[in-house]
Amino acid sequence: MFLRVAVVVSGRGSNLAALLRALGADAPARVILVISNRAEAEGLAVARRHGVPTHVLQDSADPAEWRRVLEEARAELVVLAGYLKRVPKAVVDAWRGRVINIHPALLPRHGGTGMYGRRVHQAVLASGDEASGATVHLVTEEYDRGPILGQAQVPVRPDDTPDTLAERVLAAEHRLLPAAVLAAARAGRPVPFTLEEAGSQAVELPPTAH
Ligand code: GRF
Repeated sequence: MFLRVAVVVSGRGSNLAALLRALGADAPARVILVISNRAEAEGLAVARRHGVPTHVLQDSADPAEWRRVLEEARAELVVLAGYLKRVPKAVVDAWRGRVINIHPALLPRHGGTGMYGRRVHQAVLASGDEASGATVHLVTEEYDRGPILGQAQVPVRPDDTPDTLAERVLAAEHRLLPAAVLAAARAGRPVPFTLEEAGSQAVELPPTAH
C-alpha cells in the first residue's frame, strides 16, 4: 500500500525530480500523475523520464477537469510544486486538507499574490532578514496562507544576490518536500512534520536539481 500522489507543476520541476528521487520502490508514497497547465513545462519531461503519466490541463480554471483527472488517477494527495496558477475554489473545497504547496520563503513572511520566483528572494534581501528557507503548507483559498506543516531554514549571507539565495533555498526545498510527502504517507494525510522525522531517505539527497 502506498499513498497516491499527484504533483502539479508549471515549470522546471526540480522539486518533482527531488521527490521522485526520494521515493524508492518501497516508499510509502508514489507519484502516480503529474499535471501541468503548460504543455512545454520541463516538469512534464521529468515525469516522462520516470515513466509517470502526465496530464496537460486544457483549462486550468475548470474545476470539473481537475476533479475528473484526479479522481481517474485515484489521487489521495495533491502536491503543488511550482504551480503558478490558482487552483479552482471548488477543487480546494473538495480536496481540503489534501492539497499542499511548497513556497520558497519562511511563511508567513514573503508570501501572497505576486510573490513567486525571484521576487521572493529580492523581497527577503530587501527586508534585511537574516534567514530564509522553504515552507510546506496546506492550500486554502488564500495564496500562501494555509496552515504551515513544515519549514527548512537557510542563512541569508551578506553578499547574497537573489540568485545565490534562490539556489540555497532550492536545495532546502528539495529536502523539505519529500519529508512532507513521507510524513503524509505515514499519517494517511498531510500533517505537521520536521525534517529530522523524515529519516535519511529524504534528507540525504544529492544537491543536483534534476
Ligand atoms: C520553487 O521555488 C517552489 O517553491 C515554488 O516554485 C519553484 C518551483 O521550482 N513554488 P521547480 O519547478 O520545482 O524547480
